[in-house]
Amino acid sequence: MKKIKTQVGIIGAGPAGLTLALWLKKHGIQSVIIEHRSREYVEARVRAGLLEQNTVDIFEDLGVAARLKKEGQEHHGVYLSFNGERIRVPFGELTNGRNITIYGQQEVVKDLTNAWLEAGETLLFEAPATQIVDFDSDHPKIYFEQNGEEGVLECDFVAACDGFHGIGRKTMPKGSFNEFTVTYPYAWLGILANVAPSTDELIYAYHERGFALHSLRSEKVSRLYIQVPVDDKEENWTDEQIWDELSIRLGTPGWELKRGPIFEKSVTPMRSYFIDNMQSGRLFLVGDAAHIVPPTGGKGLNLAVADVKHLVDGLVAHYKEKSDDLLENYSKIALKRIWRAQDFSNFMTTLFHKSDEHGSFTYQLQKAKFDYIKTSKAYATTIAENYVGLGFEVIQ
Ligand code: APR
Ligand code: PHB
Repeated sequence: MKKIKTQVGIIGAGPAGLTLALWLKKHGIQSVIIEHRSREYVEARVRAGLLEQNTVDIFEDLGVAARLKKEGQEHHGVYLSFNGERIRVPFGELTNGRNITIYGQQEVVKDLTNAWLEAGETLLFEAPATQIVDFDSDHPKIYFEQNGEEGVLECDFVAACDGFHGIGRKTMPKGSFNEFTVTYPYAWLGILANVAPSTDELIYAYHERGFALHSLRSEKVSRLYIQVPVDDKEENWTDEQIWDELSIRLGTPGWELKRGPIFEKSVTPMRSYFIDNMQSGRLFLVGDAAHIVPPTGGKGLNLAVADVKHLVDGLVAHYKEKSDDLLENYSKIALKRIWRAQDFSNFMTTLFHKSDEHGSFTYQLQKAKFDYIKTSKAYATTIAENYVGLGFEVIQ
């Protein structure tokens, strides 16, 4: 059996696993990553693309932000629209200069994977982890398969960065956590199109016909989403129908949505999920393995990177200062930001999605919130600071 030894065994080469490996390396702590899928598959997986200020600062600090800085787009505000009335929430003046950067998640994964492999480090692709054992001892092991052969990764700690469908959470002892779930009665149909964006900043729109979001990937590629029924399929929509719906829902006087060839279409379910304990012994859950947020707040990737910061703090204190306080409190510390992000993501989702009839109490509340954003600097500031992400000095 193939045997590998390291300090931290990492399952999953998504944003969480790759950021953790690179950050531990910066502190001289070894790790090995095992990933179920092929490199091509992981790097082609289309996801969101909103990076908080914290995340950009961390990638810069890890020396993996060169392409992000060159090709990413820093935004200093966001447009919010309600039945065709559009307002702008500026970031800089409301958040002491903190902003967001739009840069596709798969571009992040490419940059981090390149950095890890170019440093001569180990990442086993097409090597699904099958079992995690002895994590209640100082020598946990991760069993995996590769090329039809079994292997074992012997380590001091296991970081399950294996997403919502991974084995990490399933390995946690029964009763070691409580689950919290909200499933929203709608989904997102997302497209990528070869057309210049019709906006310089993101547009989130509530409309009688449902939610719409105009995001972007570059000066030539637009990323857009519309609210569709929860069980809808992309094949139910012609490209023309999608552009018609986007034009109506994002529409405002004096503005026109440019159309172009759609080269990617996919439907994403909408749910809020998380567990209130992310560790057991020497097993730690990170990112989507422990929590899912609806994409309306753009928090998924950023929460995963924040978890990594807290785990790195704990592991560095363990190896460098022989102190396990931070590790023992990893879940407690990480959950403060997770709750914040869950609340903000739920707020943005319920504010901008159609869930009840025009004129209903729910609708009136949505309208009241939108009108308040227009008039209250305090309320707009709350949205701006949550959207760009609260600094680690604020939530720690
Ligand atoms: N063995 C090895 N790898 C596995 C296993 C397994 N048993 N199960 C899952 N994986 C891999 C997946 O193939 C995937 O590449 O774990 C990785 C998990 O990556 P992500 O799902 O991207 O999760 P995470 O790194 O936490 O990033 C969270 O991803 O889904 C978005 O919106 C989410 O932006 C957020 C980000
Ligand atoms: C994206 O660019 O894909 C994106 C941006 C903001 C969101 C969700 C997705 O809230």
